[in-house]
Amino acid sequence: MRLFVAVAVPVHAADELDDAVAPLRQSWPALRWTGRDAWHLTLAFLGEVAEPASTRLVPRLERAAGRHPRLPLSLGGAGAFPGAARARVLWTGVRGDPAALAALAASVGAGARRAGAPPAEEGRRFQPHLTLARCREPVDVRPLVGCLSGYAGTPWTAGEIYLIRSHLPAGRPHDRPRYETLSCWPLAGSPVPGS
Ligand code: 2AM
Repeated sequence: MRLFVAVAVPVHAADELDDAVAPLRQSWPALRWTGRDAWHLTLAFLGEVAEPASTRLVPRLERAAGRHPRLPLSLGGAGAFPGAARARVLWTGVRGDPAALAALAASVGAGARRAGAPPAEEGRRFQPHLTLARCREPVDVRPLVGCLSGYAGTPWTAGEIYLIRSHLPAGRPHDRPRYETLSCWPLAGSPVPGS
């Protein structure tokens, strides 16, 4: 199954971002905009993981989460991969404590590697972001990046990490994937979810 590990975006942060993005969606219909239901901050994309490794992931991710304190986060600014002049991905950035978020992502990646499910893009610099839109062909999104550059969402404190399964729509590669939350583990100092 196709798996990734992420931090959730709370409703208030998604509401604010949705308000900022809605007018842009209408004026840039050629972009494939992500829906707010799919918004998350990826810590590690694991790709296809076979059954034994996915079982081994559980204690590894629980341990990784427990080694890191709750994290102050907010969404802000904008950018594009690989660059705004010929973008394939438009994103908003992550603020708060980037070093702590990177340390958490590194622990998650290390735990996944030990479980036999190494991150797909291991070795690449961790660049936290929330994908707002994707483009099939490179698009000059500099005006969009300009519009969103002043965006600054209300901060929140992240208290857990999530293991999420991505279901790709069969035979329709350009449709949106469906995300299914499989598990959730508290960061250090957070209450156990559901207790
Ligand atoms: P993205 O938002 O930049 O596309 C599920 O696909 C999540 O894992 C998305 O947040 C996606 O990031 C991230 N991801 C990272 N590397 C990926 C890859 N090689 N293929 C698909 N998704 C990837």
